[in-house]
Amino acid sequence: MAAEIVEVFATVPHGVVVDATLGGAGHTVKLLNAYPWMRVLGIDQDPVAVVHGRKLASENTEVGERLLVEQGRFDEIAAMLERNNISQISGALFDLGVSSPQLDMADRGFSYRNAGPLDMRMDTTQEFCASDVVNSYGLDELTHVLRNHADERFAFRISKAIIASRPITDTVQLAEIIAGAIPAPARRTGGHPAKRSFQAIRIEVNKELDILPRALNEAIRATSPGGRIAVLSYHSGEDRIVKQAFRDAEANPMVQIVASPYHHHASPLHKLVRKVRVSERPSAQEIEQNPRAASARLRVIEKVSS
Ligand SMILES: C[S@@+](CC[C@H](N)C(=O)[O-])C[C@H]1O[C@@H](n2cnc3c(N)ncnc32)[C@H](O)[C@@H]1O
Repeated sequence: MAAEIVEVFATVPHGVVVDATLGGAGHTVKLLNAYPWMRVLGIDQDPVAVVHGRKLASENTEVGERLLVEQGRFDEIAAMLERNNISQISGALFDLGVSSPQLDMADRGFSYRNAGPLDMRMDTTQEFCASDVVNSYGLDELTHVLRNHADERFAFRISKAIIASRPITDTVQLAEIIAGAIPAPARRTGGHPAKRSFQAIRIEVNKELDILPRALNEAIRATSPGGRIAVLSYHSGEDRIVKQAFRDAEANPMVQIVASPYHHHASPLHKLVRKVRVSERPSAQEIEQNPRAASARLRVIEKVSS
């Protein structure tokens, strides 16, 4: 939904936009090309994405000169802004989940199609990885992960099969065990049978859902009036969190204390953010060109007052 994302930032105050999920910098490059006044602070926890982003930033080009790259988790936005002497931002973009390069590199362990180690870490300096979840979680814990992070109907059966097959060492072996635990009629519907379980384990490894509300709040706080925050999510668990965080921010009216030489009084309540109406789903044409976009959902809010 790159065109929609570019459109979202057309009206924001000129300044710095945070790309909280820089990845291959596809969105960042489009934004920087569309808006000559924009600077982007790109964040990613994946060292591979950071090296790619820094290479782009070091090039003596229109785009490179306006790009800054920080390695870290996106719930560290406030500290990263402070480090770079940025007091307010014009908005932020969160394109959640896993990137195409991460999925395509078998040795990162994200793919159920190509054999790789049970890794799935976005931040490769972290110790905890997919093997810890697959080979050491108890039955209740594993079932909870599959159910909670991916709405997997057969979470209990899959968890039992995983535990009975330990030790499991690679992604294709894991995918076969998962597929074998799903009843045959269900296996034939809804894409690859291991897709949801892999998503759930990846979310557990990277603690993706735990830190999202805090990250969105930090972004909202740092954004100046008129600035916007756009979030692209790819499954219902993520979207529920985004929707709730935006609702909470919308429902949180601010009381402004107005000082005058004679008295201090509270001005009427005013809103902190408002929802921006956008087309939330990718077009049929985009899904045809990029099937990974099929589950994407875009939500946008605008900061009304600081
Ligand atoms: C869907 S990709 C982004 C693709 C990017 N928008 C582009 O156009 O190339 C998500 C990226 O966000 C990163 N990421 C996911 N969760 C993160 C987090 N909590 N903190 C920092 N980076 C994160 C991943 O490592 C991945 O590179």
